[in-house]
Amino acid sequence: MPNPSFIDRLTDIVGPHGLLLEPQDKEPFLQDWRGLFRGDAVAVVRPRNVHEVAAVVAQCADAGIRVVPQGGNTGLAGSGVPLANDARQIVLSMSRMNAIRHIDRVGMTMEVEAGCILQTAQDAALAQGRKLAINLASEGSAQIGGVVASNAGGIHVVRYGMARQSVLGLEIVLADGTLVNGLRHLRKDNAGYDWKQLFIGSEGTLAIITAAVLRLSPQPRKRSVSLLAVPDAQAGLALLARAQDELGDQVSAFELISAVSMDLVARHSGVALPLAPGVWYVLLEVGSNFGDIDGAVEAMLEAALEAGEAVDGTIARSEAQAQQLWALRENITEAELHQGRSIKHDISVPVGAIPDFIKEASAAIAALSPGSTVNIFGHAGDGNLHFNVLATADLADADAKRAVHDVVARYNGSISAEHGIGQYRIDEMLRYKSGEELGLMARIKHALDPDNTLNPGKVM
Ligand code: MLT
Ligand code: ZN
Repeated sequence: MPNPSFIDRLTDIVGPHGLLLEPQDKEPFLQDWRGLFRGDAVAVVRPRNVHEVAAVVAQCADAGIRVVPQGGNTGLAGSGVPLANDARQIVLSMSRMNAIRHIDRVGMTMEVEAGCILQTAQDAALAQGRKLAINLASEGSAQIGGVVASNAGGIHVVRYGMARQSVLGLEIVLADGTLVNGLRHLRKDNAGYDWKQLFIGSEGTLAIITAAVLRLSPQPRKRSVSLLAVPDAQAGLALLARAQDELGDQVSAFELISAVSMDLVARHSGVALPLAPGVWYVLLEVGSNFGDIDGAVEAMLEAALEAGEAVDGTIARSEAQAQQLWALRENITEAELHQGRSIKHDISVPVGAIPDFIKEASAAIAALSPGSTVNIFGHAGDGNLHFNVLATADLADADAKRAVHDVVARYNGSISAEHGIGQYRIDEMLRYKSGEELGLMARIKHALDPDNTLNPGKVM
């Protein structure tokens, strides 16, 4: 246990309300929402500003206490949860640092503190006619700091890119408590190393992100959302190419959903499918400021039906219907949780390899565990699939991961497209990244955090 004077020093920095010490108060910060990861912490510390963050981190570095930064705790790889069996850690909750500092409508940027909820930031941008183009199922709870630290993806990556593409500047606190302010509202800045890139996606292992300048985009005035039943994944890709030909970069989401996923949602969320049941589904969103967008989508879909790329389809006729179609997609993870045990994979392969990947990875799981089912859905427009195995009791996590990831490796894909490594995928990363890549990562970690103060046991 740390020395009691350590707690006194933390109290001096953040005040008594900034510190949670009682087991029942700490509880929600010690595990993830799926109940997969659970750890210990001597305290949950809730700073109000960056100077308090810097002082807390310096104090911890001094006392040999590890710092686990936590945002909305919505992650799927356990990077925001402290390690088990180690009380020499604090959870650094960023929730009280939640201000939107500035929105520049013309320059299309916003400056936001780490603890601001993603949806709150989106809404503030929208009130100025601008779009913060990071959209995830967990946006009502996820916080900007965690979104940036995990380089989150989500549904609009096909058009706007990962969180990385939305970050123009960062304010961070290094492992020794040094505060570095890089909050520039610039689209162009080639003055020296673009160091912020190192911290985006570092999952709290290289620095604490305390604020960010985010790039905004024009908010498309109209969106068209449609759900199509497609005969197979190959047809889905033909439809993607057609949508790109006809609608160009206005395609803002292209999600592929298996019948298993739709079935789970129907069973557990009670949302009815507005189509004849298919084998695969595509959820297409198109956003634009110009012309008859529904008409353009309709013409494209008619041609797709004629070509056999789709067998049925429905276009939302109102915003409420659009939200209902999206609910079918967004409820999959929750429905899967109700179903029971699942072994999650968050993979990416080159977009054109998706159909073959699905066939081979499904066959690998069937050979390993005939009683298990695969729940496949995801952001096919950018090559990212969630290939989740609804596993029978006798299927070991490690065996399922190995089977799926070996197929990923054959396609030179990634074993973590958007969820990160956290505690969940370290072994897998060690297996599939080259020694040179791992060595480079270790050198970066050692240079920035030689005493392993920040988020130990995650990523590295
Ligand atoms: C999603 O896209 O809904 C999440 O990233 C996926 C998941 O729960 O695996
Ligand atoms: Zn996803």
